[in-house]
Amino acid sequence: MAERIAEEKVNEIRQAVEIVDVIGDFVQLKKQGRNYFGLCPFHGENSPSFSVSPDKQIYHCFGCGAGGNVFSFLMEMEGLSFQEAALKLAERANIELQLDGPLTNKGPQLPEGSKQMIEAHDLLRKFYHHLLVNTKEGQDALEYLLNRGFTLESIERFQIGYALPSWDFVSKLLEKRGFSLALIEKAGLVIQREKDGTYFDRFRDRIMFPIVDHQGNTIAFSGRTLGGEEPKYLNSPETQIFNKSKVLYNFHLARPSIRKQQQAVLFEGFADVISANRAGVENGVATMGTSLTEEHISLLKRNVQAVTICYDSDKAGIEAAYRASNMLSKAGFTVKVALMPDGMDPDDFIKVHGEEKFKNDIIGSSATLMAFKLIYYRRGKNLQHEGDRLQYIEEVLKEISALDKAVEKDLYLRQVANEFSLSLEALVQQQNQLVQARNQKTQTPKGQAQPENKPVAFSRKAELKPAYHTAERRLISHMMRSADIAYKVQDMLQGNTLNIDEHQAIITYLFAYYEKGHDPDPSAFLNYLQDNKLKRVVADIEMMPLNEEISDQELSDYIKQVLNYQKMLKIKEKLAEQKQAERQSDFLRAASIAAEIISLRKTL
Ligand code: UTP
Ligand code: MN
Repeated sequence: MAERIAEEKVNEIRQAVEIVDVIGDFVQLKKQGRNYFGLCPFHGENSPSFSVSPDKQIYHCFGCGAGGNVFSFLMEMEGLSFQEAALKLAERANIELQLDGPLTNKGPQLPEGSKQMIEAHDLLRKFYHHLLVNTKEGQDALEYLLNRGFTLESIERFQIGYALPSWDFVSKLLEKRGFSLALIEKAGLVIQREKDGTYFDRFRDRIMFPIVDHQGNTIAFSGRTLGGEEPKYLNSPETQIFNKSKVLYNFHLARPSIRKQQQAVLFEGFADVISANRAGVENGVATMGTSLTEEHISLLKRNVQAVTICYDSDKAGIEAAYRASNMLSKAGFTVKVALMPDGMDPDDFIKVHGEEKFKNDIIGSSATLMAFKLIYYRRGKNLQHEGDRLQYIEEVLKEISALDKAVEKDLYLRQVANEFSLSLEALVQQQNQLVQARNQKTQTPKGQAQPENKPVAFSRKAELKPAYHTAERRLISHMMRSADIAYKVQDMLQGNTLNIDEHQAIITYLFAYYEKGHDPDPSAFLNYLQDNKLKRVVADIEMMPLNEEISDQELSDYIKQVLNYQKMLKIKEKLAEQKQAERQSDFLRAASIAAEIISLRKTL
């Protein structure tokens, strides 16, 4: 673990650098009024929604919701840890900052030995590649690849290589270069024999695909057999530098294109990534023979909002696509699914139908998530049979009821109604029942789904936010500027909390921040917050135009809006109770509830 940097030091650095200059190195900024605007570096866009405030020393994107201070900017932009970002900024500001322990300026901090492991992998990658492309020993492997449709260009780009059919090529080579065998073994490149403790090469007579991490370091290999040996692909074991559930094949090369196109294509195998790349699909990545994990998703999330899944069109592939599509859409991505005919994989398809057709007809015309689900539920059913048909309609209605756009709902309901000659009214009614059932299940204790839970991509289309939402944000904004106001608001809330969980979390942290003796300073407070989601909300709040001064009248208006919402929920609850009492002919109770409602209404 890297040590913590003293807070005074952090503040000194923060005050010494100008956020406009730092961000200006990455983004072309233009001044407009008090703020600077530019194209957001965190998502692709054509009109600027990324703003930087020199007054507040923070940035915020209205498009994708990215936001924070100068530290968070560098961390997100360059994938740095806090310490690394601090080092960079200190250097820039000519502030001396000494950190113990090894810390490269490039990537995140690495555990003992990792650097040598990466060096060993990088060296081997070059050797394997040389053997494949330039030597007689690699000729068969090269021919195999060229026959499969690989080009010299893609062999170069993906640094494909060949491992000799030797038991000690790797250990000899790396030992000669000064690497210890124990380290090479820990890196998964050689295996130790039990009987005499000697070592042999893990990869022999295989086509070698280097696995590169997100900084471009070679951290593992996958070796494909030339013949029919098992396994078809032999992978490096998990090591301290290689974690399958975190790495996406080709992410390093694909990232610029993913950002630019605002779209990533997810494949099952890396042969597919390479073929698709030949077809001009440069934003393709693949998992490493595992299913998609939350870690993969969060990596994607930091870079893109839309993912096209292009898995094999066999049973296993379609099931995997269904799982992945659910995970991705839950995480807020716009998901599409590209399907190929009859059990093909992308690599096969390109071989048979060509690159052009793959790019246009498969990736270019991929199905929306809902269209894919209609196909998915249809599989294995005979819709001529009533039982299958009813099951299908029910499954589909369930999916439709989960859509949030009315237009989409309508479209698919009509489609189903037409196809099965059903009355649209009946479908709508059944669908509404499903929606109600769903709402009852997902209701939060505060009686309402949190608006903040919406995927970031949609937050921009500012649905008109309820009054208490804005009121809470204005309160927070003033509370961050003055501790006096913060405590005043606390009193005025009389023990009530804010309605939106994130807002409440922010003020809870804010009080802790003041208790520690810190002065009001929104940018410093951003450093204090650990949670990225809260940071974004704070940056968003900070970007609201605001009068510096706030009158007591204004304060109490905001508080009223916050509390009124809670009272209205209470009234709603009471109204329901009243109805129930009436139904049970308990008129006495109904009357007493009615009185309560009246007095609650009076306080509004
Ligand atoms: P596939 O069996 O679909 O391979 O495995 P493929 O992409 O079509 O490869 P070719 O065309 O036969 O060369 C998909 C992915 O599953 C992992 C690999 O990551 C592969 O890219 N896999 C497959 C393994 O890890 N080991 C294996 O033995 C097979
Ligand atoms: Mn294949």
